[in-house]
Amino acid sequence: RRVLVAVDGPSGSGKSSVSREVARRAGLSYLDTGAMYRAVCWAALRDGIDVEDAETLGALVRAVHVDISTDPDVERVVVDGVEVTTAIRGAAVTAGVSAVASHPAVRAELRSRQRTTMDAAPTGCIAEGRDITTVVAPDAHVRVLLTADPAARVDRRARQVEQSGGAAEAGSLAAGDVSTAVLDRDAADSRVTSFVTAADGVLELDSSHLDLEQTVQAVLDLVLA
Ligand code: CDP
Repeated sequence: RRVLVAVDGPSGSGKSSVSREVARRAGLSYLDTGAMYRAVCWAALRDGIDVEDAETLGALVRAVHVDISTDPDVERVVVDGVEVTTAIRGAAVTAGVSAVASHPAVRAELRSRQRTTMDAAPTGCIAEGRDITTVVAPDAHVRVLLTADPAARVDRRARQVEQSGGAAEAGSLAAGDVSTAVLDRDAADSRVTSFVTAADGVLELDSSHLDLEQTVQAVLDLVLA
């Protein structure tokens, strides 16, 4: 049977690492929807488009080619022929992405592409983001809201930034900067998507005191049930 899995959660909840590993072990495709919003933000910055300019962004999102690997073992994002896998994790995109993602025209186009990608996955797909359990795939077989308390999330994000050489968040390793960047983005995002509390039928999994393996096992148990 084809299995569809939807995972939502805030920044630093671990949803990307968990979803990718569950996809590997369950033999599913993996879709990082945040990477698609980041790709559109990258294209807007490339074209010098104001992140508040809804109309121009609407035209951009409908025209832009975003090619994103759904193989959990291959992290690769290509925008209009340019490989942007690393660039979309940079400070400029991270600072602009919430504004870009707030425009209904941007969301409508990307949601439609996300549904198409999920439907095309031969064995099924695990998609993660902020509105997958509620809007993109409310009919998914498994729906999980992955949460973690703010201290755990800031700590995880700080370690991610450290591993990526400080490129991911504001170009700085200062703990206070990472904390502000994560929590500010959550505040902006939660005005647009409701990933803070679990919707009806969505299982909330608090990973504050779970390590990666334990969290992967918990989600995998649901997927293989
Ligand atoms: O860095 P982090 O993993 O927390 O974020 P991400 O998953 O890469 O998503 C980047 C941004 O895209 C978020 O801050 C949201 O503004 C936006 N996003 C969204 O609006 N809806 C989604 N389904 C996924 C991401």
